[in-house]
Amino acid sequence: MSHFDSIVKGGTVFTACDSYVADIGIKDGRISAIGINLGDDAKETVNAFDRYVIPGGIDPHTHFDMPFMGTRSSDDFETGGIAAACGGTTTIVDFANQWRDGMSLGETVEEWHKKASEKCPVDYGFHVVIAHPSDTVMREIPEMIRNGYTSFKLFMTYEGLMATDDVLLESLIKASEGGGLVAVHAENFHIINYYTKRFMAEGKVEPQYHALSRPPIAEGEATGRAIKLARLAGAPIYMVHVSCRESVEEIDRARSEGITAMGETCPQYLLLSYENYLEPGFAGAKYVMSPPLRDKESQPFLWKALKEDVLQVVSTDHCPFFMKQKEMDKESFVKIPNGAPGVELRMALLYTYGVCAGKFDMNRYVQLTSTNAAKIFGIYPKKGAIAVGSDADLVILDPNEEKTIERSMLHENVDYTPYEGFAVKGYPEAVMLRGKILAKGGAFVGSKGGGSFIKRNSPIFI
Ligand code: URP
Ligand code: ZN
Ligand code: ZN
Repeated sequence: MSHFDSIVKGGTVFTACDSYVADIGIKDGRISAIGINLGDDAKETVNAFDRYVIPGGIDPHTHFDMPFMGTRSSDDFETGGIAAACGGTTTIVDFANQWRDGMSLGETVEEWHKKASEKCPVDYGFHVVIAHPSDTVMREIPEMIRNGYTSFKLFMTYEGLMATDDVLLESLIKASEGGGLVAVHAENFHIINYYTKRFMAEGKVEPQYHALSRPPIAEGEATGRAIKLARLAGAPIYMVHVSCRESVEEIDRARSEGITAMGETCPQYLLLSYENYLEPGFAGAKYVMSPPLRDKESQPFLWKALKEDVLQVVSTDHCPFFMKQKEMDKESFVKIPNGAPGVELRMALLYTYGVCAGKFDMNRYVQLTSTNAAKIFGIYPKKGAIAVGSDADLVILDPNEEKTIERSMLHENVDYTPYEGFAVKGYPEAVMLRGKILAKGGAFVGSKGGGSFIKRNSPIFI
Protein backbone atom coordinates (compact mmCIF):
# COMPACT_ATOMS: atom_id res chain seq x y z
CA MET A 1 0.00 0.00 0.00
CA SER A 2 1.30 3.45 -0.91
CA HIS A 3 2.30 5.70 1.91
CA PHE A 4 0.54 8.64 0.23
CA ASP A 5 -2.37 8.86 -2.19
CA SER A 6 -0.52 11.68 -3.89
CA ILE A 7 2.51 13.89 -3.51
CA VAL A 8 2.78 17.44 -4.78
CA LYS A 9 6.50 17.68 -5.43
CA GLY A 10 8.99 20.49 -5.21
CA GLY A 11 6.70 23.52 -5.29
CA THR A 12 7.28 26.83 -3.55
CA VAL A 13 4.63 26.75 -0.86
CA PHE A 14 3.05 29.98 0.31
CA THR A 15 0.87 30.16 3.40
CA ALA A 16 -0.50 33.17 5.25
CA CYS A 17 2.88 33.59 6.94
CA ASP A 18 5.56 31.36 5.38
CA SER A 19 7.17 30.46 2.11
CA TYR A 20 9.39 27.42 1.54
CA VAL A 21 10.14 24.75 -1.03
CA ALA A 22 8.66 21.39 -0.03
CA ASP A 23 6.83 18.24 -1.03
CA ILE A 24 3.28 17.85 0.23
CA GLY A 25 2.09 14.32 1.00
CA ILE A 26 -1.65 13.66 0.85
CA LYS A 27 -3.58 10.78 2.39
CA ASP A 28 -7.37 10.37 2.59
CA GLY A 29 -7.99 13.89 1.35
CA ARG A 30 -5.80 15.58 3.92
CA ILE A 31 -2.26 16.81 4.07
CA SER A 32 -0.38 14.13 5.97
CA ALA A 33 3.22 15.31 5.59
CA ILE A 34 5.17 18.35 4.49
CA GLY A 35 8.90 17.91 3.97
CA ILE A 36 11.88 17.72 1.72
CA ASN A 37 12.18 14.62 -0.48
CA LEU A 38 9.12 12.79 0.80
CA GLY A 39 9.97 10.04 -1.70
CA ASP A 40 7.91 8.48 -4.45
CA ASP A 41 5.68 6.17 -2.47
CA ALA A 42 2.42 7.59 -3.82
CA LYS A 43 -0.24 6.52 -6.30
CA GLU A 44 0.04 9.89 -8.03
CA THR A 45 2.77 12.49 -8.26
CA VAL A 46 2.02 16.08 -9.19
CA ASN A 47 5.06 17.98 -10.37
CA ALA A 48 5.19 21.48 -8.90
CA PHE A 49 8.83 22.41 -9.62
CA ASP A 50 9.13 26.13 -10.49
CA ARG A 51 5.51 26.53 -9.48
CA TYR A 52 3.77 28.19 -6.55
CA VAL A 53 1.55 26.11 -4.28
CA ILE A 54 -1.10 27.96 -2.28
CA PRO A 55 -4.23 26.98 -0.29
CA GLY A 56 -7.36 26.53 -2.40
CA GLY A 57 -9.23 29.80 -2.74
CA ILE A 58 -12.25 30.52 -0.54
CA ASP A 59 -14.88 32.85 -1.95
CA PRO A 60 -17.25 33.70 0.91
CA HIS A 61 -19.66 35.72 -1.26
CA THR A 62 -21.48 33.98 -4.12
CA HIS A 63 -25.10 34.00 -5.25
CA PHE A 64 -25.72 30.77 -7.15
CA ASP A 65 -29.22 29.99 -8.39
CA MET A 66 -30.72 32.93 -6.51
CA PRO A 67 -34.18 34.34 -7.23
CA PHE A 68 -33.63 38.09 -7.39
CA MET A 69 -35.32 41.17 -8.87
CA GLY A 70 -37.88 39.17 -10.83
CA THR A 71 -35.34 36.78 -12.33
CA ARG A 72 -32.65 34.31 -11.18
CA SER A 73 -28.86 34.43 -11.16
CA SER A 74 -27.69 32.39 -14.13
CA ASP A 75 -25.06 30.18 -12.51
CA ASP A 76 -26.37 27.29 -10.50
CA PHE A 77 -24.24 25.26 -8.10
CA GLU A 78 -22.95 23.07 -10.93
CA THR A 79 -21.89 25.75 -13.42
CA GLY A 80 -20.87 28.23 -10.74
CA GLY A 81 -18.96 25.53 -8.87
CA ILE A 82 -17.14 24.43 -12.02
CA ALA A 83 -16.21 28.05 -12.75
CA ALA A 84 -14.96 28.47 -9.19
CA ALA A 85 -12.87 25.28 -9.43
CA CYS A 86 -11.28 26.21 -12.76
CA GLY A 87 -10.30 29.57 -11.34
CA GLY A 88 -8.68 28.11 -8.20
CA THR A 89 -11.52 28.46 -5.69
CA THR A 90 -12.21 25.21 -3.85
CA THR A 91 -14.69 26.47 -1.26
CA ILE A 92 -17.55 28.91 -1.57
CA VAL A 93 -19.95 30.29 1.02
CA ASP A 94 -23.22 31.10 -0.73
CA PHE A 95 -26.12 33.19 0.55
CA ALA A 96 -29.21 31.14 1.38
CA ASN A 97 -31.77 33.84 0.89
CA GLN A 98 -35.04 33.93 2.83
CA TRP A 99 -36.61 35.27 -0.34
CA ARG A 100 -40.27 34.55 0.51
CA ASP A 101 -42.15 35.97 3.48
CA GLY A 102 -43.14 33.20 5.88
CA MET A 103 -40.15 30.97 5.12
CA SER A 104 -38.32 29.88 8.24
CA LEU A 105 -34.53 30.03 8.28
CA GLY A 106 -34.55 26.22 8.47
CA GLU A 107 -36.64 26.01 5.29
CA THR A 108 -34.37 28.54 3.63
CA VAL A 109 -31.22 26.49 4.13
CA GLU A 110 -33.08 23.30 3.17
CA GLU A 111 -33.94 24.94 -0.14
CA TRP A 112 -30.27 25.84 -0.67
CA HIS A 113 -29.15 22.31 0.23
CA LYS A 114 -31.40 20.98 -2.54
CA LYS A 115 -29.86 23.40 -5.01
CA ALA A 116 -26.28 22.45 -4.06
CA SER A 117 -26.18 18.76 -3.16
CA GLU A 118 -25.32 16.40 -5.99
CA LYS A 119 -24.40 19.41 -8.09
CA CYS A 120 -21.69 21.47 -6.48
CA PRO A 121 -18.14 20.31 -7.36
CA VAL A 122 -16.45 22.48 -4.70
CA ASP A 123 -16.99 22.47 -0.93
CA TYR A 124 -19.66 24.87 0.24
CA GLY A 125 -21.33 26.47 3.22
CA PHE A 126 -24.26 28.85 3.55
CA HIS A 127 -24.71 32.24 5.14
CA VAL A 128 -28.35 32.81 6.07
CA VAL A 129 -30.00 35.97 4.76
CA ILE A 130 -32.60 37.30 7.18
CA ALA A 131 -34.98 39.17 4.86
CA HIS A 132 -38.34 38.53 6.51
CA PRO A 133 -37.80 38.79 10.25
CA SER A 134 -40.42 37.81 12.80
CA ASP A 135 -40.17 36.71 16.43
CA THR A 136 -40.12 33.09 15.31
CA VAL A 137 -37.41 33.73 12.73
CA MET A 138 -35.24 35.59 15.24
CA ARG A 139 -35.62 32.72 17.70
CA GLU A 140 -34.13 30.38 15.10
CA ILE A 141 -30.75 32.17 15.12
CA PRO A 142 -29.06 30.15 17.92
CA GLU A 143 -30.19 26.84 16.41
CA MET A 144 -28.90 27.84 12.98
CA ILE A 145 -25.51 28.57 14.52
CA ARG A 146 -25.46 25.22 16.30
CA ASN A 147 -26.22 23.55 12.97
CA GLY A 148 -23.19 25.10 11.26
CA TYR A 149 -24.69 28.22 9.70
CA THR A 150 -22.61 30.61 11.73
CA SER A 151 -23.08 33.78 9.71
CA PHE A 152 -26.10 35.84 8.70
CA LYS A 153 -26.55 38.58 6.15
CA LEU A 154 -28.78 41.59 6.50
CA PHE A 155 -29.46 44.11 3.78
CA MET A 156 -29.87 47.79 4.64
CA THR A 157 -31.36 48.42 1.20
CA TYR A 158 -33.45 46.61 -1.50
CA GLU A 159 -37.21 46.92 -1.13
CA GLY A 160 -38.66 43.66 0.21
CA LEU A 161 -35.33 42.40 1.57
CA MET A 162 -34.00 45.23 3.71
CA ALA A 163 -33.82 45.23 7.48
CA THR A 164 -34.66 48.19 9.68
CA ASP A 165 -32.14 49.26 12.32
CA ASP A 166 -34.03 47.53 15.15
CA VAL A 167 -33.94 44.22 13.25
CA LEU A 168 -30.26 44.69 12.51
CA LEU A 169 -29.57 45.43 16.19
CA GLU A 170 -31.50 42.39 17.36
CA SER A 171 -29.74 40.16 14.81
CA LEU A 172 -26.34 41.43 15.92
CA ILE A 173 -27.20 40.72 19.57
CA LYS A 174 -28.70 37.27 18.96
CA ALA A 175 -25.96 36.14 16.54
CA SER A 176 -23.17 37.27 18.81
CA GLU A 177 -24.76 35.66 21.91
CA GLY A 178 -24.90 32.38 19.98
CA GLY A 179 -21.31 32.60 18.71
CA GLY A 180 -22.18 33.78 15.20
CA LEU A 181 -21.48 36.77 12.97
CA VAL A 182 -23.63 39.26 11.08
CA ALA A 183 -22.56 40.39 7.62
CA VAL A 184 -24.13 43.58 6.32
CA HIS A 185 -24.89 45.04 2.90
CA ALA A 186 -24.65 48.70 3.84
CA GLU A 187 -26.35 51.33 1.71
CA ASN A 188 -28.78 54.02 2.90
CA PHE A 189 -32.13 53.06 1.37
CA HIS A 190 -33.68 56.51 1.74
CA ILE A 191 -30.90 58.35 -0.07
CA ILE A 192 -31.12 55.83 -2.92
CA ASN A 193 -34.90 56.06 -3.00
CA TYR A 194 -34.80 59.86 -3.29
CA TYR A 195 -32.34 59.91 -6.20
CA THR A 196 -33.98 56.97 -7.96
CA LYS A 197 -37.37 58.68 -7.99
CA ARG A 198 -35.83 61.97 -9.05
CA PHE A 199 -33.79 60.52 -11.94
CA MET A 200 -36.68 58.42 -13.20
CA ALA A 201 -39.01 61.46 -13.11
CA GLU A 202 -36.41 63.41 -15.10
CA GLY A 203 -36.23 60.63 -17.73
CA LYS A 204 -32.69 59.70 -16.71
CA VAL A 205 -33.11 55.97 -17.19
CA GLU A 206 -29.72 54.77 -18.48
CA PRO A 207 -27.47 52.38 -16.52
CA GLN A 208 -25.17 55.12 -15.20
CA TYR A 209 -28.07 56.52 -13.16
CA HIS A 210 -28.00 53.33 -11.14
CA ALA A 211 -24.58 54.46 -9.92
CA LEU A 212 -25.50 58.11 -9.54
CA SER A 213 -28.53 57.21 -7.43
CA ARG A 214 -26.28 55.33 -4.97
CA PRO A 215 -23.53 57.80 -4.02
CA PRO A 216 -20.57 56.73 -1.84
CA ILE A 217 -22.01 58.73 1.07
CA ALA A 218 -25.04 56.40 1.04
CA GLU A 219 -22.68 53.46 1.58
CA GLY A 220 -20.44 55.27 4.06
CA GLU A 221 -23.38 56.44 6.18
CA ALA A 222 -24.90 52.97 6.34
CA THR A 223 -21.53 51.39 7.10
CA GLY A 224 -21.01 53.79 10.00
CA ARG A 225 -24.55 53.18 11.27
CA ALA A 226 -24.21 49.40 11.10
CA ILE A 227 -20.92 49.55 12.96
CA LYS A 228 -22.46 51.77 15.64
CA LEU A 229 -25.24 49.22 16.09
CA ALA A 230 -22.58 46.50 16.43
CA ARG A 231 -20.81 48.59 19.02
CA LEU A 232 -24.04 49.03 20.95
CA ALA A 233 -24.67 45.29 20.73
CA GLY A 234 -21.10 44.47 21.73
CA ALA A 235 -21.08 42.29 18.63
CA PRO A 236 -18.63 41.64 15.81
CA ILE A 237 -19.64 42.75 12.33
CA TYR A 238 -18.49 41.97 8.78
CA MET A 239 -19.09 44.47 5.97
CA VAL A 240 -19.66 42.86 2.57
CA HIS A 241 -18.59 44.28 -0.81
CA VAL A 242 -17.01 47.49 0.47
CA SER A 243 -16.63 49.74 -2.55
CA CYS A 244 -15.45 53.19 -1.45
CA ARG A 245 -13.25 55.34 0.75
CA GLU A 246 -16.22 56.47 2.87
CA SER A 247 -16.82 52.90 4.10
CA VAL A 248 -13.13 52.09 4.48
CA GLU A 249 -12.75 55.09 6.78
CA GLU A 250 -15.63 53.93 8.99
CA ILE A 251 -14.14 50.44 9.33
CA ASP A 252 -10.66 51.82 9.94
CA ARG A 253 -11.91 54.10 12.72
CA ALA A 254 -13.89 51.30 14.34
CA ARG A 255 -10.92 48.91 14.29
CA SER A 256 -8.63 51.53 15.76
CA GLU A 257 -11.17 51.94 18.59
CA GLY A 258 -11.06 48.20 19.28
CA ILE A 259 -14.37 47.25 17.65
CA THR A 260 -14.41 43.91 15.86
CA ALA A 261 -15.35 45.28 12.45
CA MET A 262 -14.10 43.32 9.47
CA GLY A 263 -14.75 43.61 5.78
CA GLU A 264 -14.24 42.51 2.22
CA THR A 265 -13.97 44.15 -1.14
CA CYS A 266 -14.23 42.57 -4.60
CA PRO A 267 -12.15 42.67 -7.81
CA GLN A 268 -14.75 44.83 -9.58
CA TYR A 269 -14.24 47.69 -7.11
CA LEU A 270 -10.46 47.37 -7.38
CA LEU A 271 -10.28 47.20 -11.17
CA LEU A 272 -13.41 48.64 -12.80
CA SER A 273 -14.95 52.08 -12.46
CA TYR A 274 -17.92 54.36 -13.08
CA GLU A 275 -16.66 54.86 -16.66
CA ASN A 276 -17.81 51.33 -17.49
CA TYR A 277 -21.41 52.53 -17.15
CA LEU A 278 -20.84 54.86 -20.09
CA GLU A 279 -20.08 52.04 -22.56
CA PRO A 280 -22.24 52.49 -25.69
CA GLY A 281 -25.75 51.13 -26.12
CA PHE A 282 -27.03 49.39 -23.04
CA ALA A 283 -23.61 47.76 -22.32
CA GLY A 284 -23.33 49.71 -19.06
CA ALA A 285 -25.96 47.31 -17.69
CA LYS A 286 -23.25 44.62 -17.44
CA TYR A 287 -21.85 46.53 -14.47
CA VAL A 288 -25.09 47.29 -12.69
CA MET A 289 -24.50 45.97 -9.20
CA SER A 290 -24.90 47.27 -5.69
CA PRO A 291 -22.97 49.06 -4.43
CA PRO A 292 -22.13 50.42 -7.88
CA LEU A 293 -18.69 50.85 -9.41
CA ARG A 294 -17.03 54.02 -8.16
CA ASP A 295 -14.70 56.64 -9.62
CA LYS A 296 -11.16 55.41 -10.33
CA GLU A 297 -9.93 57.61 -7.45
CA SER A 298 -11.51 55.24 -4.93
CA GLN A 299 -9.38 52.27 -6.05
CA PRO A 300 -6.12 53.22 -4.24
CA PHE A 301 -8.05 53.47 -0.94
CA LEU A 302 -9.29 49.91 -1.35
CA TRP A 303 -5.85 48.53 -2.24
CA LYS A 304 -4.37 50.32 0.77
CA ALA A 305 -7.13 48.95 3.02
CA LEU A 306 -6.30 45.42 1.86
CA LYS A 307 -2.60 45.90 2.48
CA GLU A 308 -3.06 47.51 5.89
CA ASP A 309 -5.66 45.05 7.17
CA VAL A 310 -8.57 47.47 7.28
CA LEU A 311 -10.20 44.96 4.91
CA GLN A 312 -9.35 41.30 5.37
CA VAL A 313 -10.95 39.44 2.45
CA VAL A 314 -11.41 39.65 -1.31
CA SER A 315 -14.64 37.93 -2.36
CA THR A 316 -16.51 38.26 -5.66
CA ASP A 317 -20.24 38.82 -4.96
CA HIS A 318 -20.63 36.56 -8.01
CA CYS A 319 -24.21 37.12 -9.19
CA PRO A 320 -24.38 36.77 -12.98
CA PHE A 321 -27.21 37.57 -15.36
CA PHE A 322 -27.30 37.12 -19.12
CA MET A 323 -27.59 40.29 -21.19
CA LYS A 324 -31.17 39.35 -22.06
CA GLN A 325 -31.93 39.42 -18.33
CA LYS A 326 -30.10 42.72 -17.92
CA GLU A 327 -32.08 44.17 -20.83
CA MET A 328 -35.57 43.28 -19.58
CA ASP A 329 -36.54 46.94 -19.50
CA LYS A 330 -34.27 49.44 -21.20
CA GLU A 331 -36.49 52.29 -20.03
CA SER A 332 -35.54 51.92 -16.38
CA PHE A 333 -32.20 51.39 -14.64
CA VAL A 334 -34.25 50.28 -11.61
CA LYS A 335 -35.27 47.07 -13.42
CA ILE A 336 -31.74 45.93 -14.34
CA PRO A 337 -30.96 42.92 -12.13
CA ASN A 338 -28.11 43.84 -9.83
CA GLY A 339 -25.00 41.70 -10.02
CA ALA A 340 -22.11 40.54 -12.20
CA PRO A 341 -19.91 37.47 -12.66
CA GLY A 342 -16.45 37.09 -11.14
CA VAL A 343 -15.98 33.78 -9.30
CA GLU A 344 -13.65 32.29 -11.94
CA LEU A 345 -11.21 35.19 -12.15
CA ARG A 346 -10.77 36.34 -8.55
CA MET A 347 -7.57 34.39 -7.88
CA ALA A 348 -5.80 35.38 -11.11
CA LEU A 349 -6.90 39.02 -10.99
CA LEU A 350 -5.74 39.49 -7.43
CA TYR A 351 -2.43 37.75 -8.12
CA THR A 352 -1.79 39.88 -11.21
CA TYR A 353 -3.01 43.27 -10.05
CA GLY A 354 -2.18 42.75 -6.38
CA VAL A 355 1.01 40.68 -6.04
CA CYS A 356 2.61 41.26 -9.45
CA ALA A 357 1.79 44.97 -9.29
CA GLY A 358 3.57 45.22 -5.91
CA LYS A 359 0.48 46.07 -3.87
CA PHE A 360 1.19 43.27 -1.36
CA ASP A 361 3.18 40.05 -1.07
CA MET A 362 2.23 36.41 -1.55
CA ASN A 363 1.53 35.85 2.13
CA ARG A 364 -0.99 38.67 2.17
CA TYR A 365 -2.44 37.29 -1.08
CA VAL A 366 -3.03 33.94 0.66
CA GLN A 367 -4.62 35.70 3.63
CA LEU A 368 -6.94 37.72 1.38
CA THR A 369 -7.99 34.88 -0.91
CA SER A 370 -8.25 32.06 1.59
CA THR A 371 -6.93 32.07 5.17
CA ASN A 372 -8.81 35.10 6.47
CA ALA A 373 -12.15 33.94 5.07
CA ALA A 374 -11.51 30.51 6.63
CA LYS A 375 -10.95 32.13 10.02
CA ILE A 376 -13.81 34.62 9.87
CA PHE A 377 -16.31 32.05 8.62
CA GLY A 378 -15.34 29.24 10.96
CA ILE A 379 -13.58 26.69 8.75
CA TYR A 380 -9.94 27.22 9.76
CA PRO A 381 -7.60 25.27 9.79
CA LYS A 382 -9.58 22.63 7.87
CA LYS A 383 -9.52 25.15 5.04
CA GLY A 384 -7.28 28.11 4.30
CA ALA A 385 -4.08 26.44 5.48
CA ILE A 386 -1.30 24.23 4.17
CA ALA A 387 -0.61 22.27 7.32
CA VAL A 388 -0.60 18.65 8.41
CA GLY A 389 -4.23 17.67 9.04
CA SER A 390 -5.76 20.37 6.82
CA ASP A 391 -7.84 19.43 3.79
CA ALA A 392 -5.58 19.01 0.76
CA ASP A 393 -7.16 21.91 -1.11
CA LEU A 394 -4.32 23.24 -3.20
CA VAL A 395 -3.73 25.49 -6.18
CA ILE A 396 -0.60 25.11 -8.28
CA LEU A 397 0.23 28.07 -10.45
CA ASP A 398 2.95 29.14 -12.81
CA PRO A 399 3.87 32.60 -11.52
CA ASN A 400 5.01 33.83 -14.92
CA GLU A 401 2.55 32.41 -17.41
CA GLU A 402 0.41 35.12 -19.02
CA LYS A 403 -3.06 34.98 -20.52
CA THR A 404 -5.56 37.44 -21.87
CA ILE A 405 -9.08 36.99 -20.55
CA GLU A 406 -11.72 36.10 -23.08
CA ARG A 407 -15.26 35.15 -22.25
CA SER A 408 -14.86 31.94 -24.30
CA MET A 409 -12.22 30.49 -21.93
CA LEU A 410 -14.50 30.76 -18.89
CA HIS A 411 -17.03 28.33 -17.46
CA GLU A 412 -19.40 30.86 -15.88
CA ASN A 413 -22.92 30.46 -17.31
CA VAL A 414 -23.27 33.98 -18.65
CA ASP A 415 -22.59 35.67 -21.98
CA TYR A 416 -20.00 38.25 -20.89
CA THR A 417 -17.19 38.86 -18.48
CA PRO A 418 -16.52 42.34 -17.08
CA TYR A 419 -12.81 41.51 -17.44
CA GLU A 420 -12.71 40.88 -21.21
CA GLY A 421 -9.23 41.72 -22.53
CA PHE A 422 -7.59 41.92 -19.09
CA ALA A 423 -4.07 40.43 -19.01
CA VAL A 424 -3.51 38.01 -16.16
CA LYS A 425 -0.59 36.04 -14.80
CA GLY A 426 -0.51 32.95 -12.61
CA TYR A 427 -3.71 31.33 -13.82
CA PRO A 428 -4.19 28.09 -11.82
CA GLU A 429 -2.45 25.20 -13.56
CA ALA A 430 -3.88 22.52 -11.28
CA VAL A 431 -6.52 22.73 -8.57
CA MET A 432 -7.06 20.06 -5.92
CA LEU A 433 -9.99 19.57 -3.59
CA ARG A 434 -9.33 17.19 -0.70
CA GLY A 435 -6.49 15.62 -2.70
CA LYS A 436 -8.43 15.10 -5.95
CA ILE A 437 -7.61 17.11 -9.04
CA LEU A 438 -10.60 19.29 -9.91
CA ALA A 439 -9.18 21.42 -12.69
CA LYS A 440 -6.15 21.24 -14.94
CA GLY A 441 -4.94 23.95 -17.31
CA GLY A 442 -8.21 25.83 -16.92
CA ALA A 443 -10.35 22.76 -17.78
CA PHE A 444 -12.67 21.03 -15.31
CA VAL A 445 -11.75 17.40 -14.58
CA GLY A 446 -13.63 16.94 -11.29
CA SER A 447 -17.02 15.46 -10.68
CA LYS A 448 -20.45 17.03 -10.47
CA GLY A 449 -21.57 16.92 -6.87
CA GLY A 450 -18.05 16.19 -5.60
CA GLY A 451 -18.23 19.07 -3.14
CA SER A 452 -19.33 18.62 0.47
CA PHE A 453 -21.39 20.84 2.71
CA ILE A 454 -19.24 22.30 5.48
CA LYS A 455 -20.78 22.74 8.87
CA ARG A 456 -19.01 25.83 10.09
CA ASN A 457 -17.73 26.76 13.56
CA SER A 458 -17.81 30.10 15.32
CA PRO A 459 -15.69 32.82 13.74
CA ILE A 460 -12.11 33.59 14.67
CA PHE A 461 -11.97 37.38 14.80
CA ILE A 462 -9.07 39.03 13.05
O1 URP B 1 -25.52 43.74 -7.04
C1 URP B 1 -25.36 42.82 -6.24
N1 URP B 1 -24.45 42.95 -5.33
N2 URP B 1 -26.16 41.72 -6.34
C2 URP B 1 -26.19 40.63 -5.48
C3 URP B 1 -26.94 40.88 -4.23
C4 URP B 1 -26.12 41.63 -3.23
O2 URP B 1 -26.47 42.76 -2.91
O3 URP B 1 -25.13 41.15 -2.72
ZN1 ZN C 1 -25.13 42.78 -1.09
ZN1 ZN D 1 -23.93 39.75 -2.73
